[in-house]
Amino acid sequence: MNLIPAEWAAVLYLVAAVCFILALRGLSSPKGARRGNLTGAAGALIAVVTVFLSAKLDNLPWIIGVLIVGSLIAAPVARRVKMTQMPQLVALFNGVGGGAAAIVSLLELSRVHSPYTALAVAFTLLVGGTSFSGSAITFLKLQELMPTRPLTFPGQRFLMSLVVLASIAAGTYVTIERLFVAALVLLALGLVVGVLLVLPVGGADVPIVISLLNAFTGLAVAASGLVLGNTLLLVAGTLVGASGTILTRAMATAMGRSVSGIIFGAFRKGGSTAGSTAISDRPVKSGTAEDVAILLNYAQKVIIVPGYGLAVAQAQHTLAELAETLEARGIEVLFAIHPVAGRMPGHMNVLLAEANVPYEKLKEMDEVNPEFKSADVALVVGANDVVNPAAKTSPGSPIYGMPILAVEDARQVVFLKRSMRPGFAGIENELLYEPQTTLLFGDAKDSLSKVLAAVKGM
Ligand code: TAP
Repeated sequence: MNLIPAEWAAVLYLVAAVCFILALRGLSSPKGARRGNLTGAAGALIAVVTVFLSAKLDNLPWIIGVLIVGSLIAAPVARRVKMTQMPQLVALFNGVGGGAAAIVSLLELSRVHSPYTALAVAFTLLVGGTSFSGSAITFLKLQELMPTRPLTFPGQRFLMSLVVLASIAAGTYVTIERLFVAALVLLALGLVVGVLLVLPVGGADVPIVISLLNAFTGLAVAASGLVLGNTLLLVAGTLVGASGTILTRAMATAMGRSVSGIIFGAFRKGGSTAGSTAISDRPVKSGTAEDVAILLNYAQKVIIVPGYGLAVAQAQHTLAELAETLEARGIEVLFAIHPVAGRMPGHMNVLLAEANVPYEKLKEMDEVNPEFKSADVALVVGANDVVNPAAKTSPGSPIYGMPILAVEDARQVVFLKRSMRPGFAGIENELLYEPQTTLLFGDAKDSLSKVLAAVKGM
């Protein structure tokens, strides 16, 4: 519309970029997270309004129409989504970001004159396409619409090598010849790479892949900033790419993984998905709420291990009340927090903070693991993968090498879950069959309410 001059637009873009940086800073602590989120949203609003006021836009009615449709879909979805489904939503939004960057570059190709910019187009098409389809597969895994275990098939490695070679060829064509057809082929290859990249990733490694795809989207957006000559896109994309890369590395280190090991591990194993995925019909020791209450009441030290099932059951308040009741009887109670328990970083911390569990009761994995040896009861509430000893004992298991909470060291282990179904990684947990383990079947909130009532009645 050209309502403001280019110099003003540059200043407003700078303000938006500062907002994004402050947002990241705010998001780095739970205290500043809400403010950080709002600051980031304000930056995005400033950026969008500036584009409308400063650029000469073709197809304005289309742009406004799409904005309205997008907002009408996204706002109610984001409002209604359950806390436990947030990672799926983030995966979807992330994929859409990568896909949008790829489409913008595709459409800009006809206006590109320098080979460097054409190279940026090729990069955006490949990485944006990978991010889009990879995020879609991640969404399907998180929503459990497809198996969460590593999915491999014969010839997968060969197919991946072929697709990579074809991508290099198509990318070269796009860079040198600027052919639209080659660009379309490259985008399609990017989509295939995303699928092939995420299919073999096991459930337990999905958090790291979400973060990696997030970094990919950032890089694709930054490259689309180069294509469009838009500094703000370049800055915002670089911020997302850099923070995504740092988070990916931090999560991989916390889980004893290497990023290349996660992506290429299943390929290297030549299609093996070792680790028991079938549910066996071996006997287990199940108990009643009263049995569990007796175990807890006579304990001196109880370590509670919360997991995804606690969030599903929304049982955090009942769990906090049980912990308080036990403490009032002189029993020491700790909460063991695994870095990837639940479905998003810090999930258990947020859940327990909501129930006002004092922060100092929450113990990180390294700090709490030596404590299990002196614990009378480890009460595992809706957790499974993060306490699965296969991570230590079964080479070849998809979770082998991942640090886990050492609940098997406790004198008694109690699992609160609804069935013998495995956790997100889709592999059986041997600990369920051990003699020191008692299972209390049922929804965690229901089971905890019964245990609490039984403890109070003693
Ligand atoms: P999981 O291994 O997924 O186990 C959850 C357990 O909760 C299952 O055993 C399930 O058994 C039980 N459960 C579900 N709903 C329940 C309910 N209403 N009441 C009682 N129990 C219920 O969870 P975890 O131990 O927290 O491990 C997290 C997994 O998710 C890891 O593999 C991790 O890598 C992955 N992941 C994590 C993240 C992040 S960043 N945290 C992101 C994506 C994926 P039943 O069905 O028998 O009840």
